[in-house]
Amino acid sequence: MNDVERIYQLREELHRHNHNYYVLNAPEIGDQEFDFLMRELQDLEEKHPECKDDNSPTMRVGSDLNKNFTQVVHKYPMLSLANTYSEAEVTDFYNRVKKDLNEDFEICCEMKFDGTSISLTYEEGKLVRAVTRGDGTQGDDVTDNVKTIRSIPLILRGEGYPREFEIRGEILMPWVVFEQLNEERERKEEPLFANPRNAASGTLKLQNSSVVASRKLDAYLYYLLGEELPAGGHYENMQEAAQWGFKVSDIMRKCASLEEVIDFIHFWDVERKNLPVATDGIVLKVNSLRQQRNLGFTAKSPRWAIAYKFQAERACTRLNKVTYQVGRTGAITPVANLDPVQLAGTVVKRASLHNADIIEGLDLYIGDMVYVEKGGEIIPKIVGVDKEARFMVGDKVKFITHCPECGSPLTRYEGEAAHYCTNDTACPPQIKGKIEHFVSRKAMNIDGLGVETVDQFYQEGLIHSIADLYSLKGPDIARLDRMGKKSAINILEGIRASKEVSFERVLFALGIRFVGETTAKILAKVFRSIDALAEATLEELIQVDEIGTRIAQSIIQYFADEKNRELIERLREAGVQMAMEQIDISEYTDKLAGKSIVISGVFAHHSRDEYKEMIEKNGGKNVGSISKKTSFILAGENMGPSKLEKAGKLGIQIMSEDEFLKLLE
Ligand code: IVH
Repeated sequence: MNDVERIYQLREELHRHNHNYYVLNAPEIGDQEFDFLMRELQDLEEKHPECKDDNSPTMRVGSDLNKNFTQVVHKYPMLSLANTYSEAEVTDFYNRVKKDLNEDFEICCEMKFDGTSISLTYEEGKLVRAVTRGDGTQGDDVTDNVKTIRSIPLILRGEGYPREFEIRGEILMPWVVFEQLNEERERKEEPLFANPRNAASGTLKLQNSSVVASRKLDAYLYYLLGEELPAGGHYENMQEAAQWGFKVSDIMRKCASLEEVIDFIHFWDVERKNLPVATDGIVLKVNSLRQQRNLGFTAKSPRWAIAYKFQAERACTRLNKVTYQVGRTGAITPVANLDPVQLAGTVVKRASLHNADIIEGLDLYIGDMVYVEKGGEIIPKIVGVDKEARFMVGDKVKFITHCPECGSPLTRYEGEAAHYCTNDTACPPQIKGKIEHFVSRKAMNIDGLGVETVDQFYQEGLIHSIADLYSLKGPDIARLDRMGKKSAINILEGIRASKEVSFERVLFALGIRFVGETTAKILAKVFRSIDALAEATLEELIQVDEIGTRIAQSIIQYFADEKNRELIERLREAGVQMAMEQIDISEYTDKLAGKSIVISGVFAHHSRDEYKEMIEKNGGKNVGSISKKTSFILAGENMGPSKLEKAGKLGIQIMSEDEFLKLLE
């Protein structure tokens, strides 16, 4: 056998041993023998660079190269699941599905893994891309890091997999690995990870894939997507995926009645504590893909699935003090300082008390024994007081009346639970918070400017508002502690680059109350410029889909403030984008106005995304599933039989690619 043949043989053998060990938990050979084969392959590949293969088992050791992740748009958005916390809500879900489907159905119950979600794309049986959830629309390309995870197949086994498909799942750090990692970090006096979920997502975003390789992540896959899936049921598809080499949990059960679903929940609520990885609930999915399509999606989540979240674990500890934090909007958060207590795998010393009403409702005294719970959020909360244990306690906890940072009196807006410090131009944490938000990754993404640097610049009097960033001078930065010419250049370059950030993100970066990422996107699309938005009336704002009175009022209030208008002028003068890019009006028509169009099949002239854009530019709406309201189906080759059948039943027109293009001509 020559070297090249041996390379192929070794690759195949090592892929098989990986699968045996990491997916099946049934190794055939010892670690030493495995390392030996791996070393042989590494040597041979070095000798024969012409045989390089991105999916060779040797790629799993990672590389020392640092890189920034590129953003990839998800072919199918990564939605989340609606959460429920009680059996009553599960019953509601079950009954709603029953009513909507009006036929027999099965629910597939499975664990909700508590890690970080990932979307893997395979083409011709090879892993080509791994992308994080990101904002659901686009995420980071973390392919190299994911390749180091041994339970994720680089090359698929068996046959019958679609030529191209996506599979989604959860990347997890097993409890034992998490504990070892934190012990090691404690020894090195490095900050600890709060839980395996943070450890897994932190690890996945590391720049150096060889460190990722050393962290021993694992992955369970739970959702198969594609145009040509092997079976008509979710459960059946996942069993197929297991045959192709994926790690699919065997805790999956198809239930034909609500009783079976509830039994599954009861059993795993207790038994999950013996699993090697963290889970935080049960996911219920309508099994039939046809029925899933019928039920469809809301803007955020599928109507065919929900998550039942387990009750958070509780601990009891002493309340020593209440301190108050001021956020970037001036909102005051009361924080309970506690005797350290162990809770769901981590040590808790502080917990949120939310607002004055919650404190009042708890009837809290300093020295009280309080119950702490960890919900879905990272910050634990106080949920009750053990009044039986109350003796020799201190003062009753009274919410403050003045800002702990700047001394200004606090105010409370009608209908809101929080107290606010209104001194938004001179209260340090508000100013710093606004700047931190402005420079953050999802906003202006200014490299080199983190929380500490913003704090330092503020302390040194270099910046008092976001607009000051654009008048920073190199020498002013370079003379500061821990800075130098190189960091100054880096920061100035980041600031310069931020002038190209799109208007929708600028709008989010301004930090207008209640204008989050999604709202900013909607507003930018509708009003197209800051001037148009500033001029909009309350009525005009409310008319926009998904903008309610609360957001509209906040926008009006923001632009009514002279200081904010001045700020915007300074940003505009600095070159920050205050309008959407000019669009070529000639491409826009209303030929498809009022039409709901489903795209299905494979196309010859344009990609699906291009057709989607064409529909939108011509005033139409691209919708995911066929219903009575569908105007027509833009159909390519191989349109799915179930779609054809449904279209036939509802009498919906099927339009070919050529007919469609002619229509738009
Ligand atoms: S299915 C369209 N199944 O929970 C629904 N998700 O809130 C696709 N998750 O982002 C998700 N275990 O990260 C599904 N067995 C499971 C899951 C699961 C954990 C996560 C996933 C998702 C989040 C939804």
